[in-house]
Amino acid sequence: MTKQFAVIGNPIEQSRSPELHHAFAKKTGIDLNYVKRFAELNEFENSVQEFFQNNGAGMNVTVPFKERAFNLCDELTARAKIAKAVNTLWKKDGKLHGDNTDGQGLVDAIHALDWSLDESSILILGAGGATRGVIYPLVQAGAKKIVIANRTLSRAEQLVNDLQSAVPTTTLLACGLDQLQGQFDLVINATSASLTGDTLTLPDALQFKYAYEMAYGKPSSFIDQAKQRGVPYAEGYGMLVGQAIEAFSIWNGIKPALKDFI
Ligand code: ATR
Repeated sequence: MTKQFAVIGNPIEQSRSPELHHAFAKKTGIDLNYVKRFAELNEFENSVQEFFQNNGAGMNVTVPFKERAFNLCDELTARAKIAKAVNTLWKKDGKLHGDNTDGQGLVDAIHALDWSLDESSILILGAGGATRGVIYPLVQAGAKKIVIANRTLSRAEQLVNDLQSAVPTTTLLACGLDQLQGQFDLVINATSASLTGDTLTLPDALQFKYAYEMAYGKPSSFIDQAKQRGVPYAEGYGMLVGQAIEAFSIWNGIKPALKDFI
């Protein structure tokens, strides 16, 4: 029987998830149908329940519903608990399970570039949901030190306070975007600056080996500066594919190779 999947969001037209999951299905021989599902802001919870009552096999959740999906779940993975956001849902034994695959998607995308995370020091720009979602998988992939730099310093400090006890073997530090300095293996832009067309300025006192922009398909001052410095860089399409592959593997028990789809 054809397994039914959906991605739920508002808006939802822009989602690439159906084409990705159909490509994975073709590669792995899984019989599935994956659709976009729009939900009005007050209809999210009902729409999820209805989908699973009608034997939906799994659902992805996108903006602006990831925190509400987190609150709706009966069971959560460790990384979803730390992210406080859920992008992947499924039902098992009558219980709604939730996971967050964004961080593993980022880690897989970085590994596909052959950038090492083992014993790495990482600087993450931004302290919103996008940052929160990737900390634990980066730690599991070997990050030894993670500095979270944010325009609003107090938000970075709060995130560090919140998460340090969950990752005791990794040093988490907070700083302001105006205090950037030091040497890092990797800098990740998890701010929404590229999405809104804003400029980020990286000072000369900041040095790094690799640069990853979470957004994709937008002009990015962050990538421009990596290019100017001759630093290897990538943008977020690999992460998007990576999070989709991780969700696919949870639902279908088979993990397609990221390199075949980027
Ligand atoms: P998301 O869930 O995508 O992380 P968010 O919670 O709205 O979205 O967070 C957006 C992040 O981008 C924040 O860290 C924000 O900084 P503030 O906390 O100071 O608002 C950051 N951000 C957005 N626009 C920015 C800009 N022009 N320069 C620097 N940081 C910016």
